[in-house]
Amino acid sequence: MNGEIKVHDKYFVPFITEEQLQQAIDRIAEMLNKDYAGKNPLCIPILNGTFMFTSDLFKRLNIDIEVCFVKLASYKGVQSTGHVITAIGMEKNITDREVLIIDDILDTGKTLHHFISGLYQQKPKSIKSVVLLYKPDSTVYPIKPDYTGLSIPSKFVLGYGLDYDGLGRNLPSLYCLKDENNNLS
Ligand code: IMP
Ligand code: MG
Repeated sequence: MNGEIKVHDKYFVPFITEEQLQQAIDRIAEMLNKDYAGKNPLCIPILNGTFMFTSDLFKRLNIDIEVCFVKLASYKGVQSTGHVITAIGMEKNITDREVLIIDDILDTGKTLHHFISGLYQQKPKSIKSVVLLYKPDSTVYPIKPDYTGLSIPSKFVLGYGLDYDGLGRNLPSLYCLKDENNNLS
């Protein structure tokens, strides 16, 4: 099939073009430039998936904005909250700051929900989430993104920073998994 690729043991087919992704990023940047003018937000992108999105988004921002990339480590816990998420590399104090959390994709919502809940303890002025991709039918945690690039069906996607078992992050467009019957998954 035209444009099909194989990554590890699975086949993926073209899903969202580079142009569609870039247009979605244009729209997010336009909203952030408007909503955050004069506010000097602190942007916290979650690695690894967000490196490409963050880079393309930042080139379009014309406001004062800081960035602090983090990696998340999650612990199933002893505490009644169930999960504690620690941000590795978070050197910035977010107290009284306008914070923007950037993630590649909101799937079940588990990561963002737990991470953002924990950050409120530091008393930021506000926390909003920015995701390139949103799978609303997969989300089970009580969170909705404040800024969304594209809403997509509950399919496994690959490319533009997102991986399948470590590979595929370097693809400039988005692919989705093909199932065993050769249908789109
Ligand atoms: P969540 O906690 O279930 O919302 O998912 C969080 C993380 O799972 C995302 O930041 C991605 O790294 C990964 N993820 C979710 N869906 C996909 C997908 O379709 N392709 C690749 N990675 C995904
Ligand atoms: Mg991720």
